[in-house]
Amino acid sequence: MTNIAVFISGRGSNFIKLQENIWKGEISNANIAVVFSNKNDAKGLEFAKEHNIPTIVLDEKDYSNRKEFDKAIIDVIKPYNVDLICLAGYMRIVTEELVNEYKNRILNIHPALLPAFPGLNSQKQALDYGVKVAGCTVHFVDTGVDTGPIVLQKVVDVKSDDTLDILTSKILEQEHVAYSEAVNLFCTNRLTIKDRTVKISETGIN
Ligand code: GRF
Repeated sequence: MTNIAVFISGRGSNFIKLQENIWKGEISNANIAVVFSNKNDAKGLEFAKEHNIPTIVLDEKDYSNRKEFDKAIIDVIKPYNVDLICLAGYMRIVTEELVNEYKNRILNIHPALLPAFPGLNSQKQALDYGVKVAGCTVHFVDTGVDTGPIVLQKVVDVKSDDTLDILTSKILEQEHVAYSEAVNLFCTNRLTIKDRTVKISETGIN
């Protein structure tokens, strides 16, 4: 069983979808062992609490810098024997402390077709640029911003009358599909990373 820590900062719809798809059996060999947040008012924490999924909140203001914050996170999640961290709307840049401790075991979902539009407000960046397709990317996390090896991407068409709200919700719908697929591939040992390419094998390795 793969023990997952999901990191959130807000609404948590990607976290909720992951948990629902684990319950439905669409993600195998997975257990969300803990939900971590840097915001104690993150809406997604409510769902975790309602379903007795352990939650941990740490406030960055209590730490002198990002590195110390990440060291504290490593300590608090240790008891959960975490195999995989899923960043899901986690609005913090993670440091090498966390990346090295969980090498090739941190995934992120980003609402753009990387390497286009990294960072914040990606959907608006895409719309302002006038792209005809947009989408989302699940990638492994390295020490850069949205730069790690790509696991999978989903594409949506951008129509000329799409507003930011419409595009954001079309992408979010695909995020929910993409993240579950990627987590299932990870949890069934089907991902290997060579340089910056992620190879997906047909069958799982035990
Ligand atoms: C998603 O669009 C995700 O890609 C981005 O932040 C949003 C979080 O949504 N990083 P939610 O908290 O999972 O609902």
